Amino acid sequence: MTLLIRGGTVVTHDTTFCADVLCEDGTIIAVGPDLDAPADAEIVDAKGQYVMPGGIDPHTHMQMPFMGATASEDFYTGTAAALAGGTTMIIDFVIPNPGQSLIEAYRTWRGWAEKAAADYSFHVAVTWWADSVAEEMGTLVREYGVNSFKHFMAYKNALMATDDILVESFTRCLELGAVPNVHAENGDLVAHLQQKLLAQGITGPEAHPLSRPPQVEGEAAGRAIRIAGTLGAPVYLVHVSTKDALDEITTARASGQVVFGEVLAGHLLLDDSVYQNEDWATAAAYVMSPPFRPKGHQEALWNGLRSGNLQTTATDHCCFCAEQKAMGRDDFTKIPNGTAGVEDRMALLWDAGVNAGKLSMQEFVAVTSTNTAKIFNLYPRKGAVSVGSDADLVVWDPHGKRNLSAKTHHQNIDFNIFEGLEVTGIPRHTISRGKLVWSDGELRAESGAGRYVDRPPYPGLYDSLRKRNELATPKAVVR
Ligand code: URP
Ligand code: ZN
Ligand code: ZN
Repeated sequence: MTLLIRGGTVVTHDTTFCADVLCEDGTIIAVGPDLDAPADAEIVDAKGQYVMPGGIDPHTHMQMPFMGATASEDFYTGTAAALAGGTTMIIDFVIPNPGQSLIEAYRTWRGWAEKAAADYSFHVAVTWWADSVAEEMGTLVREYGVNSFKHFMAYKNALMATDDILVESFTRCLELGAVPNVHAENGDLVAHLQQKLLAQGITGPEAHPLSRPPQVEGEAAGRAIRIAGTLGAPVYLVHVSTKDALDEITTARASGQVVFGEVLAGHLLLDDSVYQNEDWATAAAYVMSPPFRPKGHQEALWNGLRSGNLQTTATDHCCFCAEQKAMGRDDFTKIPNGTAGVEDRMALLWDAGVNAGKLSMQEFVAVTSTNTAKIFNLYPRKGAVSVGSDADLVVWDPHGKRNLSAKTHHQNIDFNIFEGLEVTGIPRHTISRGKLVWSDGELRAESGAGRYVDRPPYPGLYDSLRKRNELATPKAVVR
């Protein structure tokens, strides 16, 4: 199957040039001016538009069982919505229950994901510790294409990884060449503040941000970074939402530590006033962790992206509909945490980033696609417009407009946290593995067309880290 994208301007993370892009059997086979194509090739007219790597969302939770509910978006609906928004790959999370085999959980998630319409991969969470966990981490890295493990420092008595687990797991990640990820919030402090607020009779969604103030994230971020730094391991912080956590990352990076930071579109654009809505259901719809923050943090996060201290953007797409959120009607700690966004991230980043002069087009490509591909060792198969790369592309119309709304989005959720926002700059066409899957508002996503993408460990990063650790190892004095 051949597809020619004709007459567009190619934008990558480091360059911009006019070229056609020829795709055959799912791969880019030529990039250059005036390319010929066979007579039966499908032609996409990209005149006046930008041809970029498809977005990669490194943080989604399709179908996630969480807080007594199951996320309403499954792997088909979620990846179809992603394609409608120009995102051609997601990295989701396998989350074993404490005590459960990691490989058993991995197989469960792989089964759920068979219906995905776009390519996908998995981080695997470490929610408990035993020798068997260390062994299974090795098997996942060597045989199942997993090069990242997630640690929730929050969600006490559920998924929370205590410091001893972080130490064991980060050490194992370093041995294996995998990247430890952390959700940085101090789970003990959150649990304490939740109980205090409930005891004061503050039970509504307005209590959610009060139970997770910025310093709760800053403390955990600093702790995770120092644990990683002491062990000589890299660390990737998911959904950085505060200046407090960003400052910890910035300081560590300035001292030479390998620390990566991800920011969500929601945290860049929304603030904590959403929890003051008088309508309970509307306020509850924004309950996610970490919560939306007081104004001021957003500017710091944009600066983090521009300075390179934050490298990736994500959504933490984790959908719960109004009737699921209602489980916490009388107790905010029982509102399933999570919001949507996989369909809207690219357009939001373009509109609020590129149009607002906060990001260049190349930076947009870097933070929506290429940096994730590099950190998780998918590059240049993903995140590139190069011969040999997967033909995962978006043809971007910088003048197209979209009104973000639950009435029109493809996400399987009855609420859109960006409701009513009009964005300029939209995906006109999305190409997944060389197939046109979104074209001029028509979604042609196919259940099962997405493939699992292996992510082997990253020798480049780890060879230098190991060398660095070896050189820093003190020598015993010979007496
Ligand atoms: O509220 C959120 N973020 N729900 C999903 C789980 C997580 O913490 O990422
Ligand atoms: Zn999280
Ligand atoms: Zn998450």
